[in-house]
Amino acid sequence: MEIKSGNLLHENIDSTYDKLAELKAFDETKAGVLGLVRRGVTKIPRMFYSKELNITENSNGNTKLSVPVIDLKNRNNDPALRVEILNQIRTACKEWGFFQVINHGIPVSVLDEMIDGTLKFHEQDEDLKKPYYSRDLVKKGVTYFSNMSLFSGNPADWRDTLDIVVGPESLKSDNVPEICRDIVVEFLHNIRQLGSFMAELLSEALGLNPSYLNDLNPSDRRIFIMGHCYPPCPEPELTVGATTHTDANFFTLLLQDQLGGLQVLHEGKWVNVPALHGALVVNIGDLLQLVSNDKFVSVYHRVLSQKVGPRISIASSFLNVHDPNESDLKIYGPIKELTSAENPPIYKDITIKDFYGHYFAKGLDGHSSLEPFKL
Ligand code: OGA
Ligand code: NI
Repeated sequence: MEIKSGNLLHENIDSTYDKLAELKAFDETKAGVLGLVRRGVTKIPRMFYSKELNITENSNGNTKLSVPVIDLKNRNNDPALRVEILNQIRTACKEWGFFQVINHGIPVSVLDEMIDGTLKFHEQDEDLKKPYYSRDLVKKGVTYFSNMSLFSGNPADWRDTLDIVVGPESLKSDNVPEICRDIVVEFLHNIRQLGSFMAELLSEALGLNPSYLNDLNPSDRRIFIMGHCYPPCPEPELTVGATTHTDANFFTLLLQDQLGGLQVLHEGKWVNVPALHGALVVNIGDLLQLVSNDKFVSVYHRVLSQKVGPRISIASSFLNVHDPNESDLKIYGPIKELTSAENPPIYKDITIKDFYGHYFAKGLDGHSSLEPFKL
């Protein structure tokens, strides 16, 4: 197959540029962005040209501000400390929508091995990855793809993803690629526990019963584990690893390697989320912003592309309700206990079908997915 160089297209044959053909040719390789890099591209294909202008000029990161780091050590044995941790979480979720946690209980060796296992999956022979290439996440359980919304009309991101969806029932580990199977099973066990604990802390920080978010809909205990690979990029000023977006879930626990590149939009400025070895990044998603009636905010973030790489990150997404079969008609709206005459509901009660219908139709376009649901 032929991947045309972005530069050539730009200079000579602009009017003949057939974006759909380029997207299809790329998709049919089933080799992702890493496949392009392996074939030695020095100019990125035009489908990756970002609409985010002046990426590098705006991307120095604001060094004065930093995403809060919250230490969870001794959280269970010291009641005063627990109150203090809840206060820190409440402030972070209100002001940043993002924070990092340390001493969260998952051994650093498990995190390091998960990064390594994800890298090994992406770096293995293309023929071994191809059978997994699909965007049918929920049905297949384990999929590998480049750009979930490749055909949405928005520019493609410079990244590939290994996605593992685990339902309320347990993981069928035979479906997980052998090269990372053991560590995925171990990581899943650990991250599920931490996710459930984090849902308790977030509930309490909202002033609700600790089990509130976990009990919202027991069938929503689905976890998406997205093992992203951001290959080195020959022209990082022209594209991004992940376009500016918010997450369409309740919350995400993100594990990142040491290369950096993740940024969060805070008070109108891009702020780097520094790589802290052994830490996990927590970020609030749109559904938690909606049910918390803006007490917690889902904040724009993006990942820059870089000359170095591949960068690996693993985003574990919690309390997902995206299942066409069961949860779609369930209604979510601002939690009654969090609204009052002084704090009236900001959002309508909506079905999950409406919410995801809108989220996926618009793709990662940099606009809030909650906007149409405001009262
Ligand atoms: C995501 C995401 C950030 C990263 O998966 O939604 O924002 O650093 N990932 O990979
Ligand atoms: Ni995200």
